[in-house]
Amino acid sequence: MTRAEILRGAAARLRAAGIEEPLREARMLLAEAAGFDRATLTLRLEEPPAPEEAERFEAWVSAREARRPMAQILGRREFYGRAFRVTSDTLDPRPDSEALIEAALEALRRRGLAAPRILDLGLGTGCLLLTLLAELPGARGRGIEASPAALEVARSNAAALGLEGRADLRSGDWLTGVEGPFDLVVSNPPYIREEERPELAPEVARHEPAMALFGGADGLEAYRRILADLARVLAPGGAAAFEHGHEQRAALTALAEAHGFALEEARDDAAGRPRVLIFRRQGEKTSEMTENAPF
Ligand SMILES: C[S@@+](CC[C@H](N)C(=O)[O-])C[C@H]1O[C@@H](n2cnc3c(N)ncnc32)[C@H](O)[C@@H]1O
Repeated sequence: MTRAEILRGAAARLRAAGIEEPLREARMLLAEAAGFDRATLTLRLEEPPAPEEAERFEAWVSAREARRPMAQILGRREFYGRAFRVTSDTLDPRPDSEALIEAALEALRRRGLAAPRILDLGLGTGCLLLTLLAELPGARGRGIEASPAALEVARSNAAALGLEGRADLRSGDWLTGVEGPFDLVVSNPPYIREEERPELAPEVARHEPAMALFGGADGLEAYRRILADLARVLAPGGAAAFEHGHEQRAALTALAEAHGFALEEARDDAAGRPRVLIFRRQGEKTSEMTENAPF
């Protein structure tokens, strides 16, 4: 059989499994299995695949048929222009979260800090903290993650990006035992409501870690835990940037206000849905920034 023939068969299987772009994904998997870029695959479609290539491709197509996310099969996902290692222990970084990066970078720009101290709560792959550190060569960061397996992935991503010298990545439970001060706290905590579980895509429900997804009955449990202790670790004039579910903007704003924070900015994701909120302490202005102390 030629590559073109096995590709057609795989695309038909993926279509039957409910995958929306079966041919595109089958091509990506075959290119990866062959070790080719897409152009080379196109040129060599009429050749038969090498035996180990065919074996790899078959295993990956079966995994995709079972709705394993592409990022877990390929072992990586591009986020804000950089490749992050992804496993079944980490959330697959979402394009939606790039809105949090943009908002956080602007919040730091407004504050004019040359060497901001950043804290990321719930690292997963580390895509938020590591992207911010890569974008801000003067910044230093701390990251907290409750899953030991996800923490190992975040550390490997820090090393691959050459950022381990500026990223202190630790095991922990939100802010318990974390000492500040930080100029920016970012978090994309689990925020899906328990009752939404049956509506999730199979890729998410079957293959992504539950502790990265579910935020209790109303989806706000993690925000409550974080907000209760946030003022303790935030530097004077500091900001907290949260990703949230698209229906949670009002509830999260009310929760933050009840804990003494004021809304600084609300931002939508690329699809136009409410996605990010930035808070600062009530009564503070961004112009009241203090000098940066060493990390
Ligand atoms: C929605 S994922 C976000 C991962 C990553 N920041 C991203 O945006 O792709 C939430 C992360 O929080 C972690 N987490 C859950 N409970 C935690 C806790 N109590 N303390 C610290 N991290 C926790 C999960 O393991 C998961 O990695």
